[in-house]
Amino acid sequence: MFATSRLFSVAAKRSFSTSAANLTKVAVLGAAGGIGQPLSLLLKENPNVSHLSLYDIVNAPGVAADIGHINTNSKVTGHTPENDGLKEALTDAHVVVIPAGIPRKPGMTRDDLFNTNASIVRDLATAAAKYCPNAHFLIISNPVNSTVPIFAETMKKAGVFNPKRLYGVTTLDVVRASRFVAEVKNLDPKDVKVTVVGGHSGVTIVPLLSQTGLEFTKEELDALTHRIQFGGDEVVQAKNGTGSATLSMAYAGARMANSVLEATVGGKKGVVEPSFVKSDIFASEGVEYFSTNIELGPEGVEKIQGLGEISAYEKELISKAVPELKKNIVKGNEFAQ
Ligand code: NAD
Ligand code: LMR
Repeated sequence: MFATSRLFSVAAKRSFSTSAANLTKVAVLGAAGGIGQPLSLLLKENPNVSHLSLYDIVNAPGVAADIGHINTNSKVTGHTPENDGLKEALTDAHVVVIPAGIPRKPGMTRDDLFNTNASIVRDLATAAAKYCPNAHFLIISNPVNSTVPIFAETMKKAGVFNPKRLYGVTTLDVVRASRFVAEVKNLDPKDVKVTVVGGHSGVTIVPLLSQTGLEFTKEELDALTHRIQFGGDEVVQAKNGTGSATLSMAYAGARMANSVLEATVGGKKGVVEPSFVKSDIFASEGVEYFSTNIELGPEGVEKIQGLGEISAYEKELISKAVPELKKNIVKGNEFAQ
């Protein structure tokens, strides 16, 4: 009796996820790269994905052939620019994750990537506007503070911008923050949630440690804030010229993609993730995009959460973040004009 009812509930769950999954083609642009490969691997394990479409200017068919042997239900296809590959990759996509572009080397800022990555993101946005304008777009390519405005402006030019469906991926900042705080406080990171707001580079990354419910000394606050703001540099230095965070980013990107899928096709309520989105919070100061926790719903961004109560220390951090963010956003907007 127990076995039968358990079997039934397993079957019911399967048929739900199968019907939801039929709608969920996920495209990864930059799929053969350091992030793209492990991200695609994690997405292949996701039962909410029906079709994984892998695009890169090189090597995507090889990555697709390899991942395609994994015995989960989704189909995998690989595409390069030949034979209308980008069109094939994007058509009918529900979620498009974009880690295309060059990574940092030691001594570089994310803004130093602008000259190369801005045009990559603009060109991918132009194709997305044409082939899958209604998809949800998750932008990983740096500098996120500028590539998100570039993507938005390009979509606007094509008349298809939907601010509810464009997300700068800042998940890695909260993943790191949780890990770093847990290390200092000797806790399990699963019990440590840290809200991080602002943008995704240096001083624009603002952790709200006062909202964790934990006590910090001034030294801990300074050290943790610095480590969260400059966590990316730790990896860039350790990789010593061979790239930046790829594996932790793949983990974070897969988490964000799954949250979008759960909220938009899985019907799950109360899904909250941080993301750099079109936001009114600092719009009066010329900052059109800002990362805070957002509530996801069937259409994408459903509600942008405010900053909540923040300390004087955090107000000071925000006052440094806002002008820098403004500069990054203006640079992106101007490039796209
Ligand atoms: P990588 O060089 O290993 O991979 C990038 C891939 O993009 C390559 O395979 C390349 O062929 C591909 N590519 C280049 N131009 C393309 C185009 N026009 N269309 C499709 N694919 C194209 O780099 P990576 O380590 O995977 O990093 C990728 C980007 O992600 C970098 O800009 C990096 O700074 C950024 N990043 C962001 C975060 C974040 O938190 N948002 C974290 C880590 C890295
Ligand atoms: C990160 O935060 O790890 C990424 O933005 C990559 C980088 O350049 O640091």
